[in-house]
Amino acid sequence: MAPMVNAAVTGPAKDRPRVLSGIQPTSGSFHLGNYLGAVRQWVDLQEQNDAFYMVVDLHAITVEQDPATLRENTRISVAQLLGAGLDPERCTLFVQSHVPEHAQLGWVMNCMTGFGEAARMTQFKDKSSKQGSDRTSVGLFTYPILQIADILLYQADAVPVGEDQRQHVELTRDLAERFNTRYAPTFTVPKPYILKETAKIFDLQDPTSKMSKSASSPKGLVSLLDEPKVSAKKFKSAVTDTDTVVSYDEENKAGVSNLLRIHSALSGQSIEQLVAHFEGKMYGALKTELAELFAEWVTPFQERTKSYLDDPAELDRVLGLGAEKAREVASETLATVYDRIGFLAPKR
Ligand code: TYM
Repeated sequence: MAPMVNAAVTGPAKDRPRVLSGIQPTSGSFHLGNYLGAVRQWVDLQEQNDAFYMVVDLHAITVEQDPATLRENTRISVAQLLGAGLDPERCTLFVQSHVPEHAQLGWVMNCMTGFGEAARMTQFKDKSSKQGSDRTSVGLFTYPILQIADILLYQADAVPVGEDQRQHVELTRDLAERFNTRYAPTFTVPKPYILKETAKIFDLQDPTSKMSKSASSPKGLVSLLDEPKVSAKKFKSAVTDTDTVVSYDEENKAGVSNLLRIHSALSGQSIEQLVAHFEGKMYGALKTELAELFAEWVTPFQERTKSYLDDPAELDRVLGLGAEKAREVASETLATVYDRIGFLAPKR
């Protein structure tokens, strides 16, 4: 049964609960953490909810981008979302920069967020400490505030994301409440929608860090557009431990537990079933089976993605329609916000 999120009690009435989420187009290929932590839920949630999903190109330029590559990666991202099962008949799929209201509401939200509050965002702290403050853009600092605008524009009840985005959704809730109290009830106060089992997929080489495109080595990162052979190698050389028994123990057997969670997510078998299934077998058996399971899923995914990439006119049509549907909702919210703040309405 496809999930339906709980509607929030605040915000305007809607026919169906609304969900919204976004993904960055920065590296072309999504990775397995993106898929299991977020995109898979997006596909399920489009059935029963009014779903808005976007490729967040405005967020991507918080770090330097090559223009041609950004354009190409944005298309590849949209094609992968379609390849993963998003259906433009069932959800609104669009590119963030096609809807100018994101930047407009982003400014308003910048003016409502405390500097210290923004400075507490751990993702910013992690990234900026790696780069140094002179190479860190102000855009990276205000990144979460643009994300707040993304969510509030659509009056989303729930935001399907991985664990690393929880803090940003919590800040969104604070800001929605602040605006509602300061002016008048305007925004739906959204909840994060995070599935425990796949909230954080770990790096195959460093199973204490999340799988991430910014990891120091690509060996622990499973990219969805890599040849399945390449990913099979990565699964087979995943870091485990010196024990030999396949069992679930997040603290002492982080590597094996990560592999079991990925297996469980792809196969639909529970962790208990898997532990029983691998009884008396070595880690190699788990890795081989996982590599096969992944290849079975990823091969048709890649074929579908390729077919969307081969038809740029269709991709443009989908995005044109998506932007139009998104703007209908976004412009209404922005008009209400501008009015509540006290901006003079332009005479037409
Ligand atoms: P991004 O592009 O970094 O990641 C997209 C989604 O993938 C999830 N994710 C993971 N989940 C589990 N395990 C992992 N190792 C893993 N790595 C990534 C992320 O949690 C995310 O859900 N700030 C967002 C994009 C964004 C957004 C929004 C999201 C912009 N506006 C509005 C929701 C609502 C980001 O950088 O995601």
